[in-house]
Amino acid sequence: MRLKRLLAMVGGALVALIAAMAVSYVSDQRAGEKTLMAPTPTAAVVARGAYLARLGDCAACHSVPARPAFSGGLRMRTPIGAIYTTNITPDVSNGIGRFTLTDFDRALRFGVAKGHTLYPAMPYTSYYNTTPADVAALYAYFKYAVPASSVPNRATDIVFALSMRWPLTFWRWLFAPKPSPFAAAPGMTNEVAKGAYFAEGLGHCGECHTPRGIFLQARAATGADGPTYLSGAVIENYFAPSLRSDGPGTLGEWSADEVTQFLLTGGNTRGIAFGSMTDVITHSTQYMTSEDALATAKYLKTLGFPGATPQPSFVYDATEHRALKNGDASKPGAMLYLNNCAACHRPDGMGYERVFPRLSGNPIVQARNPLSVVSIVLEGSRTPRTGASPAQFTMPGFAWRLSDQDVADVVNFVRTSWGNHASAATADAVRRTRSYAAPE
Ligand code: HEC
Ligand code: HEC
Ligand code: HEC
Repeated sequence: MRLKRLLAMVGGALVALIAAMAVSYVSDQRAGEKTLMAPTPTAAVVARGAYLARLGDCAACHSVPARPAFSGGLRMRTPIGAIYTTNITPDVSNGIGRFTLTDFDRALRFGVAKGHTLYPAMPYTSYYNTTPADVAALYAYFKYAVPASSVPNRATDIVFALSMRWPLTFWRWLFAPKPSPFAAAPGMTNEVAKGAYFAEGLGHCGECHTPRGIFLQARAATGADGPTYLSGAVIENYFAPSLRSDGPGTLGEWSADEVTQFLLTGGNTRGIAFGSMTDVITHSTQYMTSEDALATAKYLKTLGFPGATPQPSFVYDATEHRALKNGDASKPGAMLYLNNCAACHRPDGMGYERVFPRLSGNPIVQARNPLSVVSIVLEGSRTPRTGASPAQFTMPGFAWRLSDQDVADVVNFVRTSWGNHASAATADAVRRTRSYAAPE
């Protein structure tokens, strides 16, 4: 009897679920079926589209060096195998030459390209808030200003059965935010709203900076979703830190102007970009107008932990500098720091402005997850080359000369010196990072 009741309940729940899905399916089909009117592709519309393509960083994924722009082919890892980005030039047989504005909108905001659901590696889960005028401008740019290229698309490397796309449709129903044009939250100034539109939408900051759930869905889509949004996440072998203002050694210590400078030039007196943020800056944010960059920075500054007690700001502590000056390298990692790092980052951890980043009071160095610092010590890094700072400075990688324990020690030294406070990295974590970075 109880079993029967249970089965009936489960059956009922399933029917309800399928019905709900059918309804949402029909309604999102409908929403997409509205035939959109393409605007006249005036020079101004096309220029706006080109600018938005920069903001959306379409080139980062759809362009591959030494191949025609936007002809696709970038390999992207997924948990079940690699997929490749597609040709989005106006070529009729291999690109999106046959896409109407409605088809383009369905791909960009709904994640459905001519009937099949896209992998969320295409960040439609962020682009969903794009306004109709901006979708149309992007369409005009790709249709009329990007040269057609006939590079064919590459099939995924995913084995059959797993490569069927219907589970992606379920994923989309369950986890993708419902496409709707951005609307400012009550009380937002026009400037903050402009920053929110960009950061939550085309800028897709959340794709890397917001933690994901077990189905790889972003756990929050907008600032209104609460304190998980942009609270920091692992992306490949780096940690994209929290962009919220929640205590000492976080972005809360950066002024809006400092955040703006970082987005436009790839660095400021407090830190320099590395990992995938370098690509974001070189292909996308350096091209923002300074007003748009400032608006984005001001929006980020509105994200705090509601109810968190305000914390004292960072205070420099000269203990380690004094010890090193007096020849005392007894703190674990201090000798390694002197021998390998101090020539550039200086014994006082203050670096040289815009050349060798300051490690003291640096949010990256103190991020709650030590992954980025470990990766940067293992692999080294180059400052991003941008219009504003064309020179490039290099940090060498130390993977070949420091053991896992050495890397852990020197990382922990920089994370706990000159006033820095952060948790310890272990030799085991260094070993795992080393094997991730090794070629597949
Ligand atoms: C983070 C990587 C990434 C970024 C950024 C990105 N895309 Fe994509 N895009 C993809 C991938 C991967 C696919 C193919 C997904 C699949 O096969 O399911 C795709 C597919 C598409 C498609 C469907 C094309 C087809 O032939 O089916 C369109 C249209 C598209 N992208 C447009 C854009 C535009 C416009 C931008 C910038 C606003 C953009 N994409 C930014 C990764 C990206
Ligand atoms: C492709 C992944 C990716 C995307 C998309 C991305 N970021 Fe990042 N971001 C990172 C990584 C990784 C880091 C850590 C490395 C660094 O500091 O340069 C980072 C660092 C940063 C930092 C420095 C934070 C600190 O405390 O030092 C800022 C500011 C930042 N990102 C802003 C943004 C904004 C704004 C956007 C959206 C316009 C964005 N990011 C989109 C990956 C990404
Ligand atoms: C030859 C000079 C040089 C040496 C030696 C060096 N670095 Fe660096 N370091 C740099 C440069 C240049 C950057 C900026 C790289 C970038 O922007 O991608 C950097 C960046 C960093 C960062 C990221 C900071 C930020 O805000 O982006 C950390 C952490 C770091 N170094 C730690 C170390 C440690 C620990 C050592 C010793 C094991 C070391 N460095 C040795 C030049 C050096």
